[in-house]
Amino acid sequence: RYPEEASIVRQAFFVAFVAFGLGALFGVIQALHRTDILRFIPSTDYYTVLTAHGVLLVIVFTIFFLVGLFQWAITRSFDRPVEDIRITKAWLALMSVGSVVTGVTILLGFVDEVGISADVLFTFYAPLQAHPLFYAGLAVFLVGTWIAGADWFRSWLAWNAEHPDDRIPLQAFVVLTTMLMWYIATIGVAVAVLFFLLPWSLGLIETVNPLLTRTLFWFFGHPVVYFWLMPAYLLWYTVLPKIAGGRLFSDPLARVVFVLFLLLSTPVGIHHQYLDPGIAESFKFIAMTNTMFLLLPSLLTAFTVVASVEHGARQRGGTGLFGWLRALPWRDPAFTGMMLAGLMFAAGGFSGMINAGMNINYLVHNTLWVPGHFHLTVGTAVALTMMAGTYWLWPQLTNRRLYSRPIGLLQVVVWFGGMALMSNAMHVSGLYGIPRRTAEPQYQGFDFSTAFGSVAELNVQLAIGGTLLFVSALLFLANLAFSWGNPTTSGLGQTLPPALSGPDDSPRVLDNMRLWAAIALVLVALAYALPLGAIVADSGLFGPGGDAYPVTVVLNSVAVTAERLTASVGATLADVGGVL
Ligand code: HEM
Repeated sequence: RYPEEASIVRQAFFVAFVAFGLGALFGVIQALHRTDILRFIPSTDYYTVLTAHGVLLVIVFTIFFLVGLFQWAITRSFDRPVEDIRITKAWLALMSVGSVVTGVTILLGFVDEVGISADVLFTFYAPLQAHPLFYAGLAVFLVGTWIAGADWFRSWLAWNAEHPDDRIPLQAFVVLTTMLMWYIATIGVAVAVLFFLLPWSLGLIETVNPLLTRTLFWFFGHPVVYFWLMPAYLLWYTVLPKIAGGRLFSDPLARVVFVLFLLLSTPVGIHHQYLDPGIAESFKFIAMTNTMFLLLPSLLTAFTVVASVEHGARQRGGTGLFGWLRALPWRDPAFTGMMLAGLMFAAGGFSGMINAGMNINYLVHNTLWVPGHFHLTVGTAVALTMMAGTYWLWPQLTNRRLYSRPIGLLQVVVWFGGMALMSNAMHVSGLYGIPRRTAEPQYQGFDFSTAFGSVAELNVQLAIGGTLLFVSALLFLANLAFSWGNPTTSGLGQTLPPALSGPDDSPRVLDNMRLWAAIALVLVALAYALPLGAIVADSGLFGPGGDAYPVTVVLNSVAVTAERLTASVGATLADVGGVL
């Protein structure tokens, strides 16, 4: 019914899937390389591959999918077209241009003759420095996402004016709370890029304070993981119950979960910096405590989603304590994909608790355990849910049936199997101390001691898992590509059933976006004001001995003015200095 909006969603998904394909290719290259099984690139190019893998997958793929899904959710929740399609096209264009600029800058790292590189990994904090185009592209991309959020808030205000007494539809509620979180979180990365990293790589300032840019990055870097996760949650809460044959168990509980994510996502970033010197242990302890609170919305989600699926199974005639599991539509790739993704998320939650513990984190810090963890969360809970959700949504967006549901089913199962192997090997390797982010993890004259098995076995397991994942990614992309050849059909649009316990059962205060945004900001100020203040007090805005750039700029302009004055009035520089 909304062809222009559907086209925006399709375009966003298209960019997401191109990035996914490239990212998966780089993934298998590095999986085979670092295990020394097959080497397609010289080790000197490893960081170009790793940067491209990280940026393409966790910035381009996930966020383009998110904006497409959120645009769909806003359009269908409010049942109205976008307010001004030019704005919608503008943010999509900004995000695309930004991604291309950043992506090409990274890939130019393969061509030494050009002299442009951005091998700074997806975390891009100092002391690693990229070509200015890398940061400029990121900045443009970020502005695009901000306008996207504003576009959705505008739709909400327009809808609200016509429905002042209605509760915000749940899908729109997810979009709005998530975007509020995004606005708060991106303050950190915007400051880091615009005031420090970009001027530094342009040569406007000589030094930066690495601890400050790291802290600003992680201010953003933890909430961004919830930004990736929220599209998956949106699908689990609002689409999965329908595919299972039932209805969402509780809309009020869902709202509580999304408010909790808005409040708790940002004041935890310092838990990524347990090993950073220069941040007091007490601040790290506070970040750890806040992090543990984040388990609450995840556990509430596990309860609500499983209860909804069980309700669906019983509607289909399922019975017994566990017998209802048999009544579920396991042949549907959308259903099975989301369920397997949820299962992996539970495993990822456990390894995440290890990461979050201040003391036990020392055991796994910067080892392969860490990518083992986040390939379960963002790499599967999020990515597999996005693929499964696409099997459900794509036919509705294109009016064409999916090319093959059995291939879709095979694809999600292969992803699950591949990830079980790769992530298991990564976790175990991490426990033995094998480092992440290196092309050559085996140091000369040093053997990692293993409790059982051998490092060679773990490497083979990792490489087989990575290869299966790549095959699964190809199956997914091919299935979508072949779907274009199917004839168009109508009647693929699906409605979503209301929740068993609907929005009217939840207090109205939950819909008060201003209140939650204000509380979230206060919590962020409480968590970050003192640590940031201490970092700047200890080692300066621009690092110890660094030329503070406002001062440099001011002094430079004073010097230039002085020279001009000297030239025009024939005075000496000393005279002018005296006057100034
Ligand atoms: C890192 C393989 C899919 C996100 C890695 C590493 C490997 C790998 C081996 C560790 C490299 C190292 O530390 O030296 C793969 C394979 C994939 C895949 C074979 C599938 C074909 C994904 C997906 C995501 C993802 C779907 C997210 C949506 C990341 C990130 C890193 C990483 C963020 C860390 C990069 C860094 O340390 O800077 N991947 N991966 N990967 N992967 Fe994947």
